[in-house]
Amino acid sequence: MDAIRIRGGATLKGHVRISGSKNAALPILCATLLSDGESRLRNVPALRDIDTTAALLRFLGRGVDVRAPEVVVTAGSNVRPEAPYELVKQMRASVMVLGPLVARFGRAKVSLPGGCAIGARPIDQHLKGLEAMGCTIRLERGYVIAEGPGGGGRLKGAEVYFDMPTVTGTENIMMAAALAKGRSTLLNCAREPEVEELGRILNKMGAEVDGAGTDVIHITGSERGELAPFDHAIIADRIEAGTYMVAGAMTEGGDVTLEGAVLEDLEALVAKMRLAGVEVASEGQNVRVRRNGPLRAVNVTTGPHPGFPTDMQAQFMVLMCLAKGESVISETIFENRFMHVPELQRMGASIALRGNTAVVQGVDRLYGASVMATDLRASASLVIAGLVAEDETELQRVYHIDRGYEHIEQKLRGLGANVERVKGADA
Ligand code: EPZ
Repeated sequence: MDAIRIRGGATLKGHVRISGSKNAALPILCATLLSDGESRLRNVPALRDIDTTAALLRFLGRGVDVRAPEVVVTAGSNVRPEAPYELVKQMRASVMVLGPLVARFGRAKVSLPGGCAIGARPIDQHLKGLEAMGCTIRLERGYVIAEGPGGGGRLKGAEVYFDMPTVTGTENIMMAAALAKGRSTLLNCAREPEVEELGRILNKMGAEVDGAGTDVIHITGSERGELAPFDHAIIADRIEAGTYMVAGAMTEGGDVTLEGAVLEDLEALVAKMRLAGVEVASEGQNVRVRRNGPLRAVNVTTGPHPGFPTDMQAQFMVLMCLAKGESVISETIFENRFMHVPELQRMGASIALRGNTAVVQGVDRLYGASVMATDLRASASLVIAGLVAEDETELQRVYHIDRGYEHIEQKLRGLGANVERVKGADA
């Protein structure tokens, strides 16, 4: 397994292009199951999760040609509506084939995703939504077996209330409703920009989706029982953008321009960075981040969009490690998302954990060390810490970071960082 070696101390300066959004691409690739035509997705990042989704669609019988930044999905042979554990265990988001498969083919057998490093992450809301649309759901030997009404008939429009604004839950049910008979009303939906983007795609494919991006979504399913293919370029990845914004602000004198980033998608993060003393401004199609003074400690509580994104919690914590004073960071979305803390403590950070809250006492510096990645965003935080730490940091298990960051070493080197990937270093 590869490792990433970082020699800290460089002040990041320059331009970095923000890739397409991983969390927008994944549901949209699943939505291709709703059509038999040739769909083309552009601005797709070259990531392991994209390859896993492509492998799953091929297993289901689709033709998939991945040539980042383009992915073309074609009908291929007969669809076998079954998603095996071997594929689903690699990426929980695979569960988003469930809605499209049962809506399109009347039945589906999809492995339960199982536990995850950051939390239990059940899918009860996904199943509840499908049941409301007339599905029978059985759980058998680690699999969800879903069948349309009357032994495989078409789903019917329904009202679905989510107990919490679940992102992939909302997306799964949106895709199912796009082929259901009649009108569906989804309540307490996730409002993330990626959900809004899926709404755009489903409208392009011929469904009638109204309100994506708000907490109430109305969907009238296509009468044809199949949707049209699409050709679409996806939005920029706001979490990748946020990660480079924090990296750029880690050192005084940092001045980084993020090409293609959308400030509106990151309002909560930007507000907190400005409170911390970082300058963040739109410049045409770009966002510019500059730091010219000391960092101030700021408290943060994660929440559903437009709240502070949980996917930026770990990275922002590193910024607070070098701030003047004490900051309190509360994680309200996932019950186990502080796995980066013991690794940061090994680098000299002063952090005390109390339940779902981390109390960070700013320190003058961090020290290079060998650290272990545990999940995607935790690994990004350790890379950022390595950028400012004294001497060398070696990050192990980088396969986590390859799931969600395209060409991270090259992009950081482009900003002046001293970063390299060491093949097979992490035996
Ligand atoms: C999406 O995960 C993202 N993944 C995650 O990004 C992100 O952290 C998360 O939303 C929150 O923003 C993708 O979009 C592919 P949720 P998702 O359902 O949909 C509970 C990354 O780093 N819940 O919104 O799985 C759940 O346990 C990844 O890119 C239920 O209880 O998250 C959690 O506590 C990590 N039952 C909360 O809701 C359900 O049926 C929010 O989870 C569904 C969710």
